[in-house]
Amino acid sequence: MCGIVGYIGKRDAAPILIEGLHRLEYRGYDSAGIALVRGKSLSVFKSKGKVRELERLLPERLKSSTGIAHTRWATHGEPSDRNAHPHVDASGRFAVVHNGIIENSAQLRRQLVANGTQLQSDTDSEVLAHLIAAHPAERLEDSVRAALRLITGTYGIAVLDGERPDTLIVARNGSPVVLGIGDREMYVASDPAALVRHTQSVVHLDDGELAVVHAEGFETFLLDGGPTSKTPATLAWSEESFDKGEFTHFTRKEIAEQPDAVRRTLSGRLEPRFQTTHIGGLELAARELLAVRRVKILGCGSAYISGRLGAQLIEQLARVPADAEPASEFRYRNPVIEADTLYIAVSQSGETFDTLAAVQEIKRKGGRVLGIVNVVGSTIARECGRGMYLHAGPEIAVVSTKTFTCTAVAFALLAVHLGRLRDLSTARGAQLLQALAGLPAQIETILTQEPAIESLAQSIARQQNAYFVGRAASFAIAMEGALKLKEVSYLHAEAYPASELKHGPLALICPEMPTVIIMPRDELFAKNVATIEEIRARKGPTYVVTHAGEPLPVAVDGVIEVPKSEPELDPILLNIPLQLLAYHVALARGSNVDQPRNLAKSVTVE
Ligand code: F6R
Repeated sequence: MCGIVGYIGKRDAAPILIEGLHRLEYRGYDSAGIALVRGKSLSVFKSKGKVRELERLLPERLKSSTGIAHTRWATHGEPSDRNAHPHVDASGRFAVVHNGIIENSAQLRRQLVANGTQLQSDTDSEVLAHLIAAHPAERLEDSVRAALRLITGTYGIAVLDGERPDTLIVARNGSPVVLGIGDREMYVASDPAALVRHTQSVVHLDDGELAVVHAEGFETFLLDGGPTSKTPATLAWSEESFDKGEFTHFTRKEIAEQPDAVRRTLSGRLEPRFQTTHIGGLELAARELLAVRRVKILGCGSAYISGRLGAQLIEQLARVPADAEPASEFRYRNPVIEADTLYIAVSQSGETFDTLAAVQEIKRKGGRVLGIVNVVGSTIARECGRGMYLHAGPEIAVVSTKTFTCTAVAFALLAVHLGRLRDLSTARGAQLLQALAGLPAQIETILTQEPAIESLAQSIARQQNAYFVGRAASFAIAMEGALKLKEVSYLHAEAYPASELKHGPLALICPEMPTVIIMPRDELFAKNVATIEEIRARKGPTYVVTHAGEPLPVAVDGVIEVPKSEPELDPILLNIPLQLLAYHVALARGSNVDQPRNLAKSVTVE
């Protein structure tokens, strides 16, 4: 989604800003722009398309040490040069970059036009530049404050005044803004990924805060009040983790990183002495956890699907009723919040707007909510205040792979913890701990099967549609497999519980409709064999992801075998080949694997 970068200091701002924009490319965007203070005026360059197209517009010498830049993901108005940010007021003195959505922009635009302002774009964001200009004040922050008072909606903004090269203003309400502290220079970004090359010392703004940023430092204020005090945090991620290294795609790199990512998720959390797990960030005493009568998991996309898997793990291991729901649906249905329910919000980025809104709704109604989040210090992590970090490392590809796996592992840790407080025996606890510790090596084994998965992908890539089916926890894996395939390859893929096929989907089975069946060798294996028979009777190609063992009692078009874990953990491993499958189908079809069309990494708007 949209990205903001800002710089104020002693060096040339343009290359720093452009490099920052490149770092944010992974989030998905459709246009880019930059504004710099040169002398006592602004220079603004914007372009539809990629950051490199913006670079082509820039003059060779562009001396300036103060600027802001933006990557836009269209919400109001098509992707175009004129809709790209920064937006400027009529005099060209103020430039604004904005993430989020201004909900009353239509009304504000009408008022501005009625007052004689000529709007240059179709965006909601442009009104901010005009409103700032319409409220002249001694201090730039006061003009910005006056403008922000008139808008409703969400924003992370950075504002530049052509007449004040020594000041940048940033503010936040619902859309992240981070300050990076350098040596007599300051950086601004919506995502720490843009800062990591320059500094590890950052300050996250909270909602309702504004910062006045100078080269020598910064001051933070409440939007409608006095100063606030901020303690800098240290970024956990190194610059190298944002590079593809030996891989051609971040997606492939992140699939390969899974053994190490899972090791980090597990690190320090297995407690063999008591055959349980230790989750430091839970901040709930055993007595409080024992009083939990229900678990409700919320997230979007793959985070929601990992929640479905998490719910299964919690029900199986802790025997506590659990379910998952898309956060986007939950927040709009006036949910009943129960005191003895434990709510869990799942988010890789920690910035997904719908998930954040669900967390806020739960808290407003007095509920307890834990976060399972990858990005340290992100909004959802801070809003929840307790939970588990995945420690999966940065996920740059738009689609989630390693964080799906690490989230499932985090849920397994939580399920064992809750289970061991209840009826899960020490013997079973010990088996599960051993199985958890064995997952990274088993994932490594699965990754060695890439050539076989690739050849299966070649067959699927020739089709236009695919079904993914599974039963019980494997249905969540079918959902994730189908989502991944459609996201990166644009092939239409749908997931069904295998038991549902004969209630409708079977109508589409034919030689052009392949079905991927996720079938661990468990008590439902025979039922899945029957499903394959039904599909084959209608001449549908069948591809099976299963465990090694006796030859399948039915002919299929392809088989991928994964190592066996404990039954509750098997879905985690069964998912890995589906990631490679989606990746290779995408390569075969020539799609942009790392940045699929229309998708963004961190969905910070509704
Ligand atoms: C799928 C994918 C998305 C995200 C979803 C939630 O590959 O990446 O479906 O899972 O947008 O994102 P987070 O986890 O950042 O809240």
